[in-house]
Amino acid sequence: MARKITPRRNLFESERRFRLLVEGVVDYAIFMLDPGGIISNWNAGARRIKGYEAAEVVGRHFEMFYLPEDREAGMPARSLQTARENGRFEAEGWRLRKDGTKFLASVVIDAIYEADELIGFAKITRDITERANAQVALHASESQLRLLVSGVTDYALYMLDPNGIVTNWNIGGQRIKGYLPEEIIGRHFSRFYSEADKAAGRPARALQLARDHGRYEEEGWRVRKDGTFFWASVVIDAIRDDHGDILGFAKITRDISERREAQQKLEKIQRQLAESQKLDALGQLTGGVAHDFNNLLMIISGNIHILKRLAGNDAKGLRAVQAIEKASQHGASLTRQLLTFARRQSVSPQTVDLSERIHSLREVLDTGLGGSVQIVIRVDAGVWPVTVDPGEFEAALVNLVVNARDAMAGGGTITIRASNTCLDDDARSGDFVAIRVEDTGTGIPPDVVAKVFDPFFTTKPVGKGTGLGLSQVHGFAHQAGGTVTVESELGKGTTLTIYLPRGVPETASASVEPDSVGSGTVLLVEDNPDVASASAGLLEQLGYSVRWVPDAESALSALDRGSIDLVFSDIVMSGKMDGLGLARAIKQKHPALPILLATGYSDALQSVRGDFQILRKPYQLHELSRALSRLSAG
Ligand SMILES: Nc1ncnc2c1ncn2[C@@H]1O[C@H](COP(=O)(O)OP(=O)(O)OP(=O)(O)O)[C@@H](O)[C@H]1O
Ligand SMILES: [Mg+2]
Repeated sequence: MARKITPRRNLFESERRFRLLVEGVVDYAIFMLDPGGIISNWNAGARRIKGYEAAEVVGRHFEMFYLPEDREAGMPARSLQTARENGRFEAEGWRLRKDGTKFLASVVIDAIYEADELIGFAKITRDITERANAQVALHASESQLRLLVSGVTDYALYMLDPNGIVTNWNIGGQRIKGYLPEEIIGRHFSRFYSEADKAAGRPARALQLARDHGRYEEEGWRVRKDGTFFWASVVIDAIRDDHGDILGFAKITRDISERREAQQKLEKIQRQLAESQKLDALGQLTGGVAHDFNNLLMIISGNIHILKRLAGNDAKGLRAVQAIEKASQHGASLTRQLLTFARRQSVSPQTVDLSERIHSLREVLDTGLGGSVQIVIRVDAGVWPVTVDPGEFEAALVNLVVNARDAMAGGGTITIRASNTCLDDDARSGDFVAIRVEDTGTGIPPDVVAKVFDPFFTTKPVGKGTGLGLSQVHGFAHQAGGTVTVESELGKGTTLTIYLPRGVPETASASVEPDSVGSGTVLLVEDNPDVASASAGLLEQLGYSVRWVPDAESALSALDRGSIDLVFSDIVMSGKMDGLGLARAIKQKHPALPILLATGYSDALQSVRGDFQILRKPYQLHELSRALSRLSAG
């Protein structure tokens, strides 16, 4: 007996548990219908989802959950019919809650048979409104994203399959690379690379790197449909599925040619600025050194005349003096180059006819060139005049020609051209005359080109070059308001071009005065006693009597005492007033008194141009004589 009761109890237990389970489920509405569709029970989930208590629905027809229009269309009956015929009915559709609101329901109706007889239906309903909403939202955001991607014009956004075949294409891709979607989808993306990059296997390498690291970024040249190049910023992202398998690649390409150009321009300007700052700093330094050196040379060359007189007819003594004289002249020409480089040279600019000037230099240039080097001069007709210091211009041209000769050990041709040109860059714009010196020599290695204008930079053996030639050219061109450039190709030759601003023609009649012997009293203003005594010696040789004062203040009081015919003053002097200040003060008080100024260099020179006669230090006897006689003539 006991054996029979136990299974039954178990069955009862399990049915009870099952009922509890069904009744307790809250996520699903689970209830039974009788064969006619009348609700026969109701669980917790049904209460939660539909809002009715069991007492309110048990015994009523389940069509009450349908929307009125669905009810009228006979949907409730049809779904039971389907369940009856197929054993099961499944659908999604809108249903009503007790409070009248709608929800999207996923419905399953199972027909329940017992011994082939339909005893009713089990109905399971789930509220899938949220899931549906989420899906709608997802769908909407996906299509928005698609719209966004396809509408972006500044970026080429597209996908590649794992092999690198283009699978879609946006308007940005079309704009940047020039292909329509139908022209490029299905093609391999390597066609965006240059032939050289393709040959080097770069497309495959890019995908491999993206595969290995998840992402690959680079900048490089890419090719448009029309064959032109653009500088691209490229990002490739590997796209993987949930299992980590490669689905393809997302590729973003941007045309940054303009940004790159702007960047390069900026770098160039910064380089130029650094270069000019370097040369300016060197100029300051060399200018200072050259100024002091000039004063030393002044003392040496000034005393040479005394020594000459002392040596009398002593041949040995005279030879020694001549050696000193030659060395000091050489020293003077060196400091002159340095001062030009430092743009501290006292220049006397004149309007110069280049054609005339260059042709008349031909003889000077020809001397010293070996027979295997020839000069060709090509000056355009109608080349504009320029305003330069003729001496400096000559020195610059000689420096360039000598360099060209040195670069052509085996002979060759030097071509000097002059032509009008219009510059329009950041540093200089306007009308310029370009004076080009071309050679067919060795050329300059790229790493050397940057240094050729530096003072003392030379590649020539000791004793052959001082490295000041191009420094002089550089200083000359800049002081004249122009510039100088160098182009060179190894083994082919070098071209240096001096650009000088167009000058205004002058109708000046140059007056040539003969050297003359002076007379009268010169007030010599010079703060360095040694320089003073050297200068005094020269002045005396020229026939002047000399009164020396060490500064501007004592000069003014000496003038007040009278009997001075001429003032000769150094510009750079210690003390409250320099030579320029003194000259201006004298001009006010004694407008008729001739004044000659001397200097190795001075920053103030720019402002005096034309106001006073200025003699360049160190000066030779004949230069001093000419300056003084010009002074008394004018
Ligand atoms: N036409 C040229 N062809 C090849 N190299 C050149 C040319 N002009 C200048 N250089 C190079 O530039 C360097 C500097 O020239 P720069 O005229 O300033 O000095 P240098 O000729 O060496 O000496 P210096 O002119 O003072 O006697 C030269 O040593 C040479 O290496
Ligand atoms: Mg040189």
